Order: sequence, then structure tokens, then C-alpha cells
Amino acid sequence: MFITFEGGEGTGKSTQALILAETLKKHNINVVLTREPGGSPGAEIIRNLLVTGSVDRWSTMSEVLLMYAARADHWQNTIKPALDQGDWVLCDRFADSTVAYQGYGRGVDLEFLQVLYQHVIGNTEPNFTFIFDLDVQEGLKRATARMEGDIVVEGRFEAMDIEFHQRIKDGFLKIAKEHPTRCVTLQADDHPRVIHRQILKFLQEKGALDWNSLPA
Ligand SMILES: Nc1ncnc2c1ncn2[C@@H]1O[C@H](COP(=O)(O)OP(=O)(O)OP(=O)(O)O)[C@@H](O)[C@H]1O
Ligand SMILES: [Mg+2]
Repeated sequence: MFITFEGGEGTGKSTQALILAETLKKHNINVVLTREPGGSPGAEIIRNLLVTGSVDRWSTMSEVLLMYAARADHWQNTIKPALDQGDWVLCDRFADSTVAYQGYGRGVDLEFLQVLYQHVIGNTEPNFTFIFDLDVQEGLKRATARMEGDIVVEGRFEAMDIEFHQRIKDGFLKIAKEHPTRCVTLQADDHPRVIHRQILKFLQEKGALDWNSLPA
């Protein structure tokens, strides 16, 4: 099972991916919790290039290609091997983020992004994608508060302007609409426990989880 967590800054993706991983592990499911950009030693090096430094550090095209360079490494070394051995892979951001940020946010041709996906990943898609939707200001506030505790400040995307973040939010909602069987949109201002229950309920309804074996 391949599950991705998508949405703008500070919407609660990492929080929910971690809680879901813990719940699944308690039920003896083998879980690989990973993230993008990054998720393999090589891709983590590329992550550092992408998420630190000045906003205008990279041209949009360089950013796309770095994202896909990282994704190729992550796919080959982490995600694919885990899926091949039957593990659940929970991925904190994946290809929809490239469509939202560099596609809808920066105007990169969506067909070009699809071609890249085809060549790097092939025909495999996430089984399910949770898209976290939240007021842009609220998300940035949360992300900034979270970063205050960071040793390495990964604030390059957070520092981009508010209109850009609004296009990303709208972009994710468009992606959800275009892929209604794979994607489910969650209201990210609910309590984390409520969101976790919604995620479990969704997976149960889709037949991915046996609800009876999960805690009430
Ligand atoms: N449902 C929620 N309600 C209120 N605060 C939340 C909720 N979920 C997470 N938070 C808090 O908001 C902050 C950001 O959450 P988190 O790191 O999970 O978001 P994220 O989507 O992974 O952010 P980023 O895009 O920066 O990686 C954290 O401090 C977290 O504790
Ligand atoms: Mg996160």
C-alpha cells in the first residue's frame, strides 16, 4: 500500500503521517515512513539544496529537475524496494507537490511534469493520497512556529509570497478533483485526533484496513 500526504505548508502532513505509522505498527503492519524531497541518503542531500537558502536560489526548471533527481533516487532506493516486499509506504509529500508548487505555483507545463513522472516512476501511482486543506495564513503561521525549534532552518518555500501559497492551495484542490478515487481532501483545522480517525475510516471503507482490529 502506497499512501501519500499532500498539501501546503504547515497543514499537518507530517503529524498525520507519523500518527498513522504508529497506529499501523501497533497492528503489526510493516511501515516505511518517508518524505520528499528526501527519503534516501542521496535524495536527502538534494533536499538540503532545495529547502535551504534564498528564495531565488534556483530557476523554476532547475527546481523541477532537482525535485525529480531526488525523487528518482528515493523511488529506486526506498519506495520501490519497500512496496516490492509488501510494506506500507507512507510518504510525506510526493509528485502532487511538484504539480502544485512548480506546476500551478510557478507555471511549469503540467504535461511536461506528467512525462517526467512516467519516465521516473512509470505507471505506479499512490493507492491513496490525503490532501490537507487549510487557510494559507494559518498554515504559514503553524509552519513558522514549528521552524522555531529547528536546528537546520528549512524555510525556503515558506518564505515565498502569499499569492504563490494561495495558488498552491488551489492547485491541490484541483488535483483532488481530477483524481477523485485516489485523493481525499481533509479539513486541516480539525483536531489532529479527529483527522486521524477520518483517515482510518477512509482506509477501512476502501478495504485497505480491517476496522474491527483497530482501537476505538
Ligand atoms: N490539526 C492540527 N491543528 C492544529 N495544529 C496542528 C494540527 N496538525 C499539526 N499541527 C501543528 O502545526 C504545525 C505544523 O504541522 P506539521 O509539521 O505536521 O505540518 P506539515 O504539513 O508537515 O508542515 P510542512 O509543510 O512545513 O512540512 C506543528 O507544530 C503541529 O504540531
Ligand atoms: Mg512536514
